[in-house]
Amino acid sequence: MDVLLIKGGRPLTGRIRISGAKNSALPLMAASLLCPGTHHISNVPVLKDVQTMASLLESMGAVWSLRDSRLQLDTSDIRHQQAPYELVRTMRASVLVLGPLLARFGHAEVSLPGGCAIGARPINLHLEGLKRMGARIELDSGYIKARAGRLKGTEIYLDIPTVTGTENLMMAAVLAEGVTKIENAAKEPEVADLADALNKMGARIKGAGTDVIEIEGVESLRPMNHEVIPDRIETGTYITAVAITQGEAVIEKTRPEHLEAVIAKLRETGVDIRVSGDSLLVKGVSRPLPSDVKTMPYPGFPTDMQAQFMALMTIASGTSVIRENIFENRFMHVAELRRLGADISVEGSVATVKGVDRLKGAPVMATDLRASASLVIAALVAEGETSIHRVYHLDRGYERMEEKLRALGAEVERKRL
Ligand code: EPZ
Repeated sequence: MDVLLIKGGRPLTGRIRISGAKNSALPLMAASLLCPGTHHISNVPVLKDVQTMASLLESMGAVWSLRDSRLQLDTSDIRHQQAPYELVRTMRASVLVLGPLLARFGHAEVSLPGGCAIGARPINLHLEGLKRMGARIELDSGYIKARAGRLKGTEIYLDIPTVTGTENLMMAAVLAEGVTKIENAAKEPEVADLADALNKMGARIKGAGTDVIEIEGVESLRPMNHEVIPDRIETGTYITAVAITQGEAVIEKTRPEHLEAVIAKLRETGVDIRVSGDSLLVKGVSRPLPSDVKTMPYPGFPTDMQAQFMALMTIASGTSVIRENIFENRFMHVAELRRLGADISVEGSVATVKGVDRLKGAPVMATDLRASASLVIAALVAEGETSIHRVYHLDRGYERMEEKLRALGAEVERKRL
């Protein structure tokens, strides 16, 4: 088990480059199941979750290689359509293979993902949508067993704009007979990126990025050749890290228009953020102003930035109220931030953060991906040394984080316990 040791108090300065978006790379990899041949995906982040998805596809018969962020995936010889519990339980995004497998093979056996640290995270909307498209779905000893002839286009209204639900149904619909209309669809940039890649494969998708997506089924597709969009959550994480340390840095190769809500809220706290093409110039503040936040579906403030924003608010010059509207248990970082001296009280889905003058380093434990990012941000400003345990959570979603932080002047090292 690795631990990250961080000595706080150093301002982050310099330039870093943002990696490809994890939550775009994963559905794109699943989409490679939709047609045989060799698919090329570039700007793929080297992350644990990408490795897990590649291993899942390989277990089905795919052949892959990843070099310098360029992923090649040959899915000509998919011998079976199972996604076993051992893999799915380590990464819920494995459920994204369901739609493509049904679309191409008419059969899929995918382990139910089960819950995770941040919530129960059911996939009922994925399954109801597939049923409406003609799939027969049964749940048997923890597995989703799905069968279908050719899926049929239909109208689907999503009670909640589920991101991977929208992606699963969009992938299922591209080879269906007729037109599928998904209403109240998720509008995240990663959904639009997937639609962009699918259209380049020959699909006919309109409206991705809005709340109504129309997919006209086609007979067949050709292999993908696509570059993954930059990671907006990684971008927001580094803006916050530079801000809390009163640093000054250039964050390159990102898409500022994908994180307007995050930039707006951080500007409210006094952080100086200038947009220049695909770069952001960030200047920190001596003491951030308090600011309230409500997490919402895109384009609202993303739940994946809630923990990082809270870390910044722990040293604000007043009280901030943070309401988590997406997941029912996404405050696991609060107890750990308290160990660093933060003054936070939680009432249901609302956290009240009273800014303190300073944080003090201590041993803390990561509980989920974004909670671990929040602890890194707090540790960068805490006095003394912080040791962050269970850092494998961080490796799932952040490429070479300690290298990028060291390049900005942070005192951080990874130790094997
Ligand atoms: C995606 O998860 C992201 N993961 C998450 O990022 C992100 O936090 C989340 O969207 C919200 O933006 C990937 O894209 C791989 P949802 P997803 O379905 O699709 C409920 C990270 O840190 N719901 O949009 O699983 C659900 O319980 C990860 O990178 C149902 O009730 O999220 C939740 O309350 C964490 N039934 C809400 O909807 C369903 O069938 C939003 O979930 C589906 C979802």
